[in-house]
Amino acid sequence: MAIKRIISATYFLLFLHLLLPFASCISPKQVYLVELCGDHTSGDKTLHEVGNIHHSYLLSVKETEEEARASLLYSYKHSINGFAALLTPNEANQLSEMEGVIFVHKNQPRIYSLHTTRSWKFVGLDGPLNPWEEDSNTDGELLTRAQYGKDIIVGMIDSGVWPDSKSFSDEGMEPVPTKWKGECQNGTAFDSSRCNRKIIGARYYLHGYESVFGPLNEKEDYKSARDKDGHGTHTASIVAGRAVGNVSAIGGFAKGTALGGAPLARLAIYKACWPIKGHSKDEGNICTNIDMLKAIDDAIADGVDVLSISIGFSAPISYEEDVIARGAFHAVRNNIVVVCSAGNSGPSPQSLSNPAPWIITVGASTVDRSFRAPIKLSNGTVIQGRSITPLHIGNNFYPLVLARDVEHPGLPSNNSGYCLDNTLEPNKVRGKIVVCLRGQGKRLKKGLEVLRAGGVGLILGNNKLDWNDVPSDPHFIPATGVSYDNALKLIDYVHSTPNPMAQILPGKTVLKTKPAPSMASFSSRGPNIIDPNILKPDITAPGVDILAAWTAEDGPTRMTFYDQRVVNYNIFSGTSMSCPHVAAAAVLLKAIHPTWTTAAIRSALMTTAMPTDNTGHPLTDETGNPATPFAMGSGHFNPTKAANPGLVYDASYMDYLLYTCRLGVTKHFNTTYYCPKSFPEPFELNYPSIQIHGLNYSRTVKRTVTNVGRSGSIYKFSAVSPKEFSITATPNILKFNHVGQKINFIITVTANLGQTQSNHGPDKYYFGWYAWSHQHLHAKGQIVGESWRDRKQIGHRLLEWCQ
Ligand SMILES: *[C@@H]1O[C@H](CO)[C@@H](O)[C@H](O)[C@H]1NC(C)=O
Ligand SMILES: *[C@@H]1O[C@H](CO)[C@@H](O)[C@H](O)[C@H]1NC(C)=O
Ligand SMILES: *[C@@H]1O[C@H](CO)[C@@H](O)[C@H](O)[C@H]1NC(C)=O
Ligand SMILES: *[C@@H]1O[C@H](CO)[C@@H](O)[C@H](O)[C@H]1NC(C)=O
Ligand SMILES: *[C@@H]1O[C@H](CO)[C@@H](O)[C@H](O)[C@H]1NC(C)=O
Ligand SMILES: *[C@@H]1O[C@H](CO)[C@@H](O)[C@H](O)[C@H]1NC(C)=O
Repeated sequence: MAIKRIISATYFLLFLHLLLPFASCISPKQVYLVELCGDHTSGDKTLHEVGNIHHSYLLSVKETEEEARASLLYSYKHSINGFAALLTPNEANQLSEMEGVIFVHKNQPRIYSLHTTRSWKFVGLDGPLNPWEEDSNTDGELLTRAQYGKDIIVGMIDSGVWPDSKSFSDEGMEPVPTKWKGECQNGTAFDSSRCNRKIIGARYYLHGYESVFGPLNEKEDYKSARDKDGHGTHTASIVAGRAVGNVSAIGGFAKGTALGGAPLARLAIYKACWPIKGHSKDEGNICTNIDMLKAIDDAIADGVDVLSISIGFSAPISYEEDVIARGAFHAVRNNIVVVCSAGNSGPSPQSLSNPAPWIITVGASTVDRSFRAPIKLSNGTVIQGRSITPLHIGNNFYPLVLARDVEHPGLPSNNSGYCLDNTLEPNKVRGKIVVCLRGQGKRLKKGLEVLRAGGVGLILGNNKLDWNDVPSDPHFIPATGVSYDNALKLIDYVHSTPNPMAQILPGKTVLKTKPAPSMASFSSRGPNIIDPNILKPDITAPGVDILAAWTAEDGPTRMTFYDQRVVNYNIFSGTSMSCPHVAAAAVLLKAIHPTWTTAAIRSALMTTAMPTDNTGHPLTDETGNPATPFAMGSGHFNPTKAANPGLVYDASYMDYLLYTCRLGVTKHFNTTYYCPKSFPEPFELNYPSIQIHGLNYSRTVKRTVTNVGRSGSIYKFSAVSPKEFSITATPNILKFNHVGQKINFIITVTANLGQTQSNHGPDKYYFGWYAWSHQHLHAKGQIVGESWRDRKQIGHRLLEWCQ
């Protein structure tokens, strides 16, 4: 299967928005990240003492004591050994010459954004939030075995939390685990007494943000861990929200129970994401490098067990710049599981972020629930549509028009048909239903444009890119959305009839829909261009139309100007929502298996994931074709099965360190470690999936499995290979005498003779599966072979920076 290297420019729009304001606020002083020799993590110096050392470095380049103090933004101790400071280029130069200083990086105002789509939604549900409650027998057992995650602490790096939500009640919870060392930082509308046995810690990080944008506008956000945005509240309640029954959205549209995946787990809130100044809220949030790194640094010191980070870029970035990967590396050294969103820049290939192998990278897919609002044409045909708009058009048929036939003349053709602001002609729209195209402009604003021009209804037709992935939006006008194929049908109908008429039927929640799950079109895709030897994303989880807690400060659509509604629970989509689902699963696994490494937890989740949907067929993507591992990783997570994976692919901190040696990036992860003269190839990292880059004829890959099941178990190998290759294992039967035993095996992938060369070539990818099966246990892995591609030259150096 060939995947072209396309990165569509439209996906960077958000990014461009964000970069524009910087041009005007570059000051002579900039933020630099200064990294020092040595390592304070194991020593007995307090953070304060480490801060004094950093201060003394600054004193040597600053005029006065006060200036030095004021310029020190953060001291880091548990992640990097270094600090963030405001410096002039000259001061930065001087520092870089000093003994003991390894790097002085100008902190590019690289801005991370929260990984939600812009489809802010509202509506309650008829069913529970918890996606694994569907088959409640086993899952109830899982929750009981994990004691609902009661002693596990989850760090949320996000936009804060709305502590008043019922989802964060600590009723009946046991005292805070004694290992907790964090704090509840005082701030606006969140004083230190706000923490309880559920939200056990709360901190916020503003220095990086304020050094780029100036002081926080306190009308736009709270100067505290309190969440004005809603995103952080939503993600935190997905991981660890208490069960709150009879939750209903605006107008009592639907009712249900909201419940997090690990309802007794503890939450530690690290607010590092803030509103973009001068931009409307629905354009998103930003989180700067130095703020996020400090949040991770603190989370490590505070003693969190799992970190859930729904933040990233719209494209991959190098390890040098990737503070999430760098911070996560240290978190993993401290045995903290780090779960991150893959991003919402799909379906373009190579759009994935957070690809480091020590992170669990999560894509987003649908659940088996749909909000159906069909269209009835006057010729009797019914066309399926989706909506969560609580406004109804009534029982009449209305004239149906295409936006491009009713807009002001002279619009450039590339803007035509999208119902952008002030494009429609009221005298051609009044009293009609308008078909607008999805693509340019915001979906909810298209409805407002139809409303402005006097229209009575909106039908939003998908473009080809999003195809079958139809959003369910809470429009301000009776509305529904249709797939690409159905949009073509509507166009056909309008063209084929003298008086096209239609009716939009009221929206209904439909459960147990099939097929589900399927990949969301926005979910970012591989291949991983940072390292083509590691297959990413790892897994997919529910990320479409997820109901969870909300802030009382922000309307459900976040279009503040139009939307004054207040909701306690809201529906949101994005890999931001799927990430905390997997974080919750990691909490439960950690509770059941406290001695497992972070790699074992990832392995258990990946090897038990489902590559099929609820019809038993391969999980599909937005085109209706089977999704590849570049979209879904190993498949849809299955927490219950993950509790008993049988075998795991383990990896240690040292394995990751050796992996960085081969990539030549060790200096960004551990400045005191010297790479040995020889180290394994990156594809030899003991990962639960295999990606073979530059496969030419044949390749062998070694893996090691650890028995975490029963003693005396026997596993047999099986594989599903593409026709161009064969996949074998040596040995192909594994016999384990005891629990904890490790056995090595070798996978050989060989091109089949007789396949012509034209089947191979650069940028061709072949996908296969292998499994170790033991009665009902399967430890699946998957293989991506990539043919003939020249190996990227990855230089490595043995650097000696610190004498
Ligand atoms: C906490 O913050 C509030 C508002 O910022 C302030 O009025 C109060 O004095 C602070 N309390 C403490 C203990 O610092
Ligand atoms: C659910 O909430 C509605 C109002 O939101 C209330 O009228 C109703 O009695 C509640 N039902 C239950 C079972 O608590
Ligand atoms: C539309 O086309 C015009 C003229 O070719 C170009 O300047 C403009 O940037 C295009 N707009 C978009 C949104 O592609
Ligand atoms: C109504 O129109 C649609 C679109 O042109 C067409 O596909 C469908 O077959 C028509 N239905 C009937 C009953 O003629
Ligand atoms: C660097 O790696 C060495 C060797 O594994 C380890 O002992 C040390 O703690 C690491 N230091 C940091 C800061 O990660
Ligand atoms: C593939 O391997 C064959 C045999 O080892 C070698 O002759 C050929 O040059 C290789 N091709 C590439 C593209 O590396």
